[in-house]
Amino acid sequence: MRGKDVVLEGVGITYPNGFTAVQPTDLRIEAGEFFSILGPSGCGKTTILRAVSGFVDPTQGRILIGGEDQAGIGPNARPTALIFQNLALFPLMPVWENVAFGLEARGIGKRARRARAQELLELVALGDQGDKMPGELSGGQRQRVAIARALAVEPAVLLLDEPLSALDLKLRQHMRAELRDIQKKTGVTFIYITHDQGEALTMSDRIAVMNAGVVEQVGTADQIYGAPATAFAASFVGESNMIAGRVLEVRDGHALIETALGQLVGRNPAGLGAGAAAMLFVRPEAMRIGHGENAMAAQLLRRDLEGAFLNLFFHAAGHELAVHVTNDGSRPDMAPGEEHRLGFAAAAAVVLPEGPLARTGQELAAQ
Ligand SMILES: Nc1ncnc2c1ncn2[C@@H]1O[C@H](COP(=O)(O)OP(=O)(O)OP(=O)(O)O)[C@@H](O)[C@H]1O
Ligand SMILES: [Mg+2]
Repeated sequence: MRGKDVVLEGVGITYPNGFTAVQPTDLRIEAGEFFSILGPSGCGKTTILRAVSGFVDPTQGRILIGGEDQAGIGPNARPTALIFQNLALFPLMPVWENVAFGLEARGIGKRARRARAQELLELVALGDQGDKMPGELSGGQRQRVAIARALAVEPAVLLLDEPLSALDLKLRQHMRAELRDIQKKTGVTFIYITHDQGEALTMSDRIAVMNAGVVEQVGTADQIYGAPATAFAASFVGESNMIAGRVLEVRDGHALIETALGQLVGRNPAGLGAGAAAMLFVRPEAMRIGHGENAMAAQLLRRDLEGAFLNLFFHAAGHELAVHVTNDGSRPDMAPGEEHRLGFAAAAAVVLPEGPLARTGQELAAQ
């Protein structure tokens, strides 16, 4: 099996009811890449997969797979296979027949189907499970059968729509490594959809962060976590302290902003100019206690011990600030109510244009 590249050129998708689910998007996914699309519910992830697999036509732009324009090519004729959010195996067929299902329609004889199914089952580490019925397998094993079945038709591009969402947390984490392994062994291009940032960060070669029909940033996990390009990406991926302000001055790639916590400096990747409304983001693990740069007075609200880490929550001028430090035993006496000075290195903070933020888990739960 060999992967093919997938290119979206100005692809926009409006549904027949007039709702635009995907704004014009350019995306280049390399052959053999593990590429994730990460974003909240309803942002347009599945719609992009439907368009790549041929179940929905782009309203504008074009999609190329292996350099070939896919316009007018139906789902069955594309070099893609799709694994859905809620996969379904045929319960009355043994596992190997489930895997070989797509091959019968291609006129391949039973003996060859069985041999091919065996190869694929070995690939997903289920070589000795072919004669079982799906009901006799665990959730993670069934998921691997679904992957073997999708690979049976030798797709160049495998499209996976939240394939782990039905599994419990432990199994999901285990399957991350397995999926990654299967992808590397086959060389098939994987386009993996998830709203779970942990999944995207650990498995992917590159990630597209999507919000409200717009791809806001494409990059490696390090790039997206370390150098978010938008307020949404900074607030959706990982934890961040966010401080709103207005740019006073820019110099050497940095911006000085006026905030309720005083004047603060951070990197200025978007090239904001004086007067711009801005948001400064700094990760909890980049905050320092008693640090001179970007200093501010804050009151300790709460300390949560999380084994190797100590999570501290401070209050400062209407902001709640999270500080994560390694639990090396050097801060035994910090008690809630105490005043401390916090700070952070300018290089560890990023100043971005004001923009929509990701909603927190608490906000979503309150809906
Ligand atoms: N057939 C349709 N007709 C009209 N609107 C649709 C249709 N399918 C999806 N939408 C809308 O398009 C938007 C994007 O939907 P999509 O299924 O792509 O989201 P998603 O990112 O996959 O979300 P989730 O994580 O919940 O699966 C949503 O607002 C949805 O309501
Ligand atoms: Mg979806």
